[in-house]
Amino acid sequence: MIHNVLVTGGLGFIGSETVIALIESGYTPIIVDNLFNAKESVLGRIEVITGVSPRYYRADCCDENAMRKIFAENKFDAVIHFAGYKAVGESVEKPLEYYQNNIGSACVILKLMREFGVKNFVFSSSATVYGVPESVPLFETDPVREATNPYGATKIIIEGICKDFAKADPSFNIALLRYFNPIGAHPSGLLGEDPNGIPNNLMPYISQVAIGKLPVLHVYGNDYNTVDGTGVRDYIHVVDLAEGHVAALKKLDAGCGLVIYNLGTGKGTSVLELVKAFEDANGIKIPYQIEGRRPGDVDASYANCDKAFKELGWKTKLTVEDACRDAYNFQKKNPNGIL
Ligand code: UFG
Repeated sequence: MIHNVLVTGGLGFIGSETVIALIESGYTPIIVDNLFNAKESVLGRIEVITGVSPRYYRADCCDENAMRKIFAENKFDAVIHFAGYKAVGESVEKPLEYYQNNIGSACVILKLMREFGVKNFVFSSSATVYGVPESVPLFETDPVREATNPYGATKIIIEGICKDFAKADPSFNIALLRYFNPIGAHPSGLLGEDPNGIPNNLMPYISQVAIGKLPVLHVYGNDYNTVDGTGVRDYIHVVDLAEGHVAALKKLDAGCGLVIYNLGTGKGTSVLELVKAFEDANGIKIPYQIEGRRPGDVDASYANCDKAFKELGWKTKLTVEDACRDAYNFQKKNPNGIL
């Protein structure tokens, strides 16, 4: 039975939310984070929400010796590997850092899992592995296409490593979870997305415009082949996404070998529809201006999520409006991020 779960990157946006979901489902998460893109104070916030202060190690997953000590001190039943660099644009500027950090850490974790006989692994993959989609919705059986940036390439390579690893030792259970666009925040307003500097992603940008921290939203392109010309994505509330990890752990516990699931809502929402949802949910106006397209963006990307529902019994419960409300609540309570 899976009980103790190592959560790498467990103080980050999705990791911390998953730690809460794990605690609420009776698991014991143990967090490793190097604080590259997270704050140690998240730990106290997790305790306020759950009443539990999880064991935490400040360590870098690429540091094999440090990680070996942590594996030796604990008896892990499963690992959820969130830790990794995730900024698409930055990955184009710093490809080596992305390859070394993301692939290196995944290899260290898998190697130590083999060494310590930890047989269950969940990997944070991304819809980016589908590249430029030929059609939507995207199914797990759709081909993995050439990556458009080094960040995406690391996700494709690590998926490949996991496939080879599972083939070499069929006693391992591995879930590759392909996230679509995670947004929202914990309803308490204590945890949420806290990007460094000016946000690259749409929802944190909108939230910062909403509190007056940024003057205006730039909408990148209104000539896409979509409902209103703006890009369409599958925005999933981070609380639902966290639950998807708990559902995946249950599947691993039953013994499943390597499995792949899309985690999305199955519904596409355009940039302007998200702006409207944010305005309606929060009763405020978001000023925006239309700009040219952002390089590398695709018209539409959204998931078919039938497989996750059939095999995991998981589907999203929250709406885009819920996510807009929770994101704004978090942003208002943390105008300068999590300190
Ligand atoms: N957009 C704007 N203005 C902004 C930011 C974004 O108009 O200020 C638009 C984009 O052009 C796109 C949509 O909002 O149409 C969503 O953009 P995001 O940057 O929020 O998200 P992406 O879909 O580009 O990227 C996300 C993740 C990546 C992942 C990718 C594909 O952030 O990690 O999905 O799965 F690689």
